[in-house]
Amino acid sequence: MHGWERSGLEFCSGRLTMTSTENCGNVLADLPIPIVGAPMAGGPTTVDLVTAVSGAGALGFLAGATISPAAIRYAVAGVRDQGVERFGVNVFVPEPSFTPDYAALRAYRHRLSPVAAALGAQVPDVVDGVSDYAAKVDVLVDSRVPWLSFTFGLPRLVDVARLKEVHTQVVVTVTSPHDARDAADRGADYLVVQGPLAGGHRSTFSVGTEPPDIELRVLLDKVSQVTSLPLIAAGGVSTGADVAQLLNAGASAVAVGTLLLRCPEAGTHPVRRDALADPRFTTTVVTRAFSGRPARGLSNLFHREFNRYAPAAYPEVNTMTGPLREAAMHAANADMTNVWAGAGYRSARADPAADVIKRLWDEAQRHLANPGS
Ligand SMILES: Cc1cc2nc3c(=O)[nH]c(=O)nc-3n(C[C@H](O)[C@H](O)[C@H](O)COP(=O)(O)O)c2cc1C
Repeated sequence: MHGWERSGLEFCSGRLTMTSTENCGNVLADLPIPIVGAPMAGGPTTVDLVTAVSGAGALGFLAGATISPAAIRYAVAGVRDQGVERFGVNVFVPEPSFTPDYAALRAYRHRLSPVAAALGAQVPDVVDGVSDYAAKVDVLVDSRVPWLSFTFGLPRLVDVARLKEVHTQVVVTVTSPHDARDAADRGADYLVVQGPLAGGHRSTFSVGTEPPDIELRVLLDKVSQVTSLPLIAAGGVSTGADVAQLLNAGASAVAVGTLLLRCPEAGTHPVRRDALADPRFTTTVVTRAFSGRPARGLSNLFHREFNRYAPAAYPEVNTMTGPLREAAMHAANADMTNVWAGAGYRSARADPAADVIKRLWDEAQRHLANPGS
């Protein structure tokens, strides 16, 4: 039995439809294509990318983590102005109870300062963890967005209640069965199950925690043993065969991020765009060097030099390295900035997002129809 059938979905004439009343809450069932365009903060996710992904029949997500509440409101209006009603937004949950090692932060600043100076930048000496997360949630409740996903932690109970009142589907990104159970208890409607090959930040619930290294299909299985919530599988997906395998392994939908990074609609910085296709970069690694939280990106000089010194401190390290990374990009130096990418980055093509999504789903359907292919 296929995964989506277990979750109450039926694959029928290229569409997923509901087969049982038990899962009527699973609006993923209305998706013509069970693929999610993952949120990618820091530039790649644009209104145009979300519009193209959702317009193709999948589900696009805006990235709200590193933009202001006002910018989120503007982006949401931008997607709706293009006639798209099926989309989501993502935010990062702050962890105010985590106190970083300030001496380690000062030492890291000291180490980075000459490197920044060589690039014509400075390492800020005042960095804090202030977040306008609560104001973002207010905007998103007020905007009645169809989907809202939380990364790095759980939404507050009161926010879950407010979101349900306006019929927003609440999604939590998890990396372990333990966090999956907590998210289900908190009232999540869906889980993004993020595996170790995912590009960008791993959604661990505490800054200091190392992400578990559980292969995505195994993780999906373990998560489905602790909750019956519909699952969206994410991390390292680069072919239709991957999509088919994950749907067969119990996912209701599959998320792709890296695969969209080189699409013309993405706002990926040209230096990063080029680095993704540059044969000098041969692998990806999980590193704290750039942001203070574990994140997967191209293995480059900055990671190799500084990862071992980087303290667990987010967003402090992220803020600290910001001007240096900007200066590196200005100098077209992809060795000194973060280039977040999942393990499947070699498959990212500079094709329109709708083509990428449709090709992926066509390929997946062939594998689903003919499992041996
Ligand atoms: C450049 C980049 C930025 C990302 N930013 C976010 C983000 O803002 N919020 C989030 O929940 N996940 C973020 N992620 C992770 C993705 O949402 C998703 O889990 C991941 O891309 C899936 O793995 P893949 O890149 O191998 O497809 C980012 C990933 C990348 C590559």
